[in-house]
Amino acid sequence: MTVILAIESSCDETSAAICADGKILSNFIANQTIHEKYGGVVPELASRAHIQHIVPVVDTALKTAGCKLTDINAVAFTQSPGLIGSLLVGSQFAKSLAQSLNVPLIAVHHMQAHVLANLIPASAPGRDDPKPSFPFLCLTVSGGHTQIVQCDSPTQMKVIGETIDDAAGEAFDKSAKQLGLPYPGGPLIDKYAKEGDPGRFKFPEPQIPGLNFSFSGLKTSILYFLQNAGKSHLYKEEFTATPEERDEFIKNNLADICASIQHRIITILLNKLKKASWITGIKDICLAGGVSANSGLRKAFEQMGEKYHWNTFIPDFQYCTDNAGMIAITGYYKYLAGQFSDLSVSASARAGW
Ligand code: KG4
Ligand code: ZN
Repeated sequence: MTVILAIESSCDETSAAICADGKILSNFIANQTIHEKYGGVVPELASRAHIQHIVPVVDTALKTAGCKLTDINAVAFTQSPGLIGSLLVGSQFAKSLAQSLNVPLIAVHHMQAHVLANLIPASAPGRDDPKPSFPFLCLTVSGGHTQIVQCDSPTQMKVIGETIDDAAGEAFDKSAKQLGLPYPGGPLIDKYAKEGDPGRFKFPEPQIPGLNFSFSGLKTSILYFLQNAGKSHLYKEEFTATPEERDEFIKNNLADICASIQHRIITILLNKLKKASWITGIKDICLAGGVSANSGLRKAFEQMGEKYHWNTFIPDFQYCTDNAGMIAITGYYKYLAGQFSDLSVSASARAGW
């Protein structure tokens, strides 16, 4: 049996997981609530919190899986991309542990791991659990990234489309901020959108060539729309409303505004995914990343899948947002392929594939 201990610390979640022969035995995640009052992740605070959490988190993952340190065959960790201070805590811990146990070290790319979360077997017992066949496409939507990835094998994938400015998660969070909602606002937009009319306000769809995305124009159009208290939603700078009228407008129309913003973000994402499937001829299609928790996106994705005869896949919720389970499954496939790193490997805030 091959047992992998995995560590994820790229942003504000400290997580450890144990994977045995491709099955996830434990996936423990410690969230950092300290950032809420700052309206976003504060890198220095995130690093300090990782230092506090990492030992108990690894300990809990081992105990939940019923494993001892001596059962571990390899240690996998997130090497890039992410906040450098946060990555360094996880990578230094992983290197020290691998050296002390005298087992191989496996460096994992966080975005590749989000894609491979789709290969994690479902945790609910007895659930029908088909997995995507290679090659498959994955729309990875998170707070820092928006990518369409073509995955040819667990160790071979390429980005065929990505955002040229903001990520989809940022589009949700920044829109929420403009509406006066707390960080992270994505889940709140999702919640209010359920009660609203997605067709009430029409935000423009950017005309970006190929498979790339752009969300910064949407952000601007929402800004002007709110400053005009809904009287105009296009790129008009003559503000017609007072701040009081603006706040009143938001209060009285929150559900419809959230539903309309969410609808536009979803159509931007899915129209490019449809194009990617058409260009590549690939019909096994996955979602990944924190934004794939969005109920509107999940529903629209399934509907598009039915319409175009795709086989659609979305990871279990716990494997959509940042987690070490996805690092563990990626580590497992890298272990099988003999892709190990030496102890001099360093964390990197940005890294190509
Ligand atoms: O993948 P993730 O957990 O962390 C990153 O690597 O960025 O994604 C976090 C992002 C945040 O922008 C958050 O607002 C968004 O995912 N998110 C959602 C929902 N749940 C999380 N966005 C829309 N609807 C949701 N239900
Ligand atoms: Zn992520």
